[in-house]
Order: sequence, then structure tokens, then C-alpha cells
Amino acid sequence: MHNINKVKKIDFPQKGDERGHLVVVEGEVDIPFEIKRVFYIYGSTMDVIRGQHANRRSEFVLINVAGTSKVKVKDGEGSEAVFCLDQPHSGIYLPSMVWKEMYDFSVDSVLLVFANAHYEPDEYIRNYDEYIKEITSQGI
Ligand code: TYD
Repeated sequence: MHNINKVKKIDFPQKGDERGHLVVVEGEVDIPFEIKRVFYIYGSTMDVIRGQHANRRSEFVLINVAGTSKVKVKDGEGSEAVFCLDQPHSGIYLPSMVWKEMYDFSVDSVLLVFANAHYEPDEYIRNYDEYIKEITSQGI
């Protein structure tokens, strides 16, 4: 199975009450990995395209905790899928070795990201031709 087929939407438990909303994301419970890294992206405008890379090892869960954005994933073989991130209580799981692009950020977008690994620049593939070469050679 190509890794793009492992991309999935995840709905998180909502524990809100009359005082407001509370959403729970527990590593290895609500998402399929232990959380090693958290980062968030804001201040990106509609015309910006972020990402444009694949990761050899890192897996991610992306949640727009405020505002909206879109994520496009590609398998390098012609298949692609677009996901709208528009709810603070649901996110998208991205396995390793999928090409991803984040775009169409609303002005109020805060895109929260959980990762299964610490940051290692060398496990990022930022060149699409190199990505194609690696998935082809690995038979992914
Ligand atoms: P980058 O990967 O280009 O962001 P995006 O995937 O949203 O396009 O990262 C932007 C900068 O931040 C770059 O200099 C690398 C750095 N960075 C870290 O130092 N640690 C991290 O965990 C991440 C994701 C990025």
C-alpha cells in the first residue's frame, strides 16, 4: 500500500461544556504516534504555499486550531488528495514519504502540527524529483 493511502482525517474527543470547548489529543491514543515535537504556523497569507516537501521518517498530524487552510498530498505517481482543515476538533494524519503542500491560509489561521520525531533537516526531501527517485527505488 502506498503511504498516501494511510493519510486520514482524525476527529478528536471533545470535552467542552457550557464554559467552552476542550479538545483532547493524546499521543498513541488519539493519534498513531508518540508526540516528540510540536510546532505551529500562523501569519501565512492566501498566496503562500508552505511545505512542498516529503519526510523520510517523520509523521505528522495537522490541526487548524484557528482559521482554515488546505493540505494537498501527492504520491508522486499521479494521485493526489486535498483536505480542508477547518475545524479545531479534527485533523489530518500524514505518514512519512508523502509529498505535501499547505496553502489557502485564512488570515486567522493557526496550524498546529504534532510530529513523531525531533527536527532533523536531513530527513526532509525538498526536491520533487528526488522524492520521485526515492519512492521509485524503495517501491513505495
Ligand atoms: P519549513 O520546513 O520550511 O516550514 P514548512 O514546512 O511550513 O514550509 O521550516 C521553516 C523553518 O523552520 C526552516 O528554517 C526550518 C525550521 N524548522 C525547525 O527548526 N524545526 C522544525 O521542527 C520545523 C518544522 C522547522
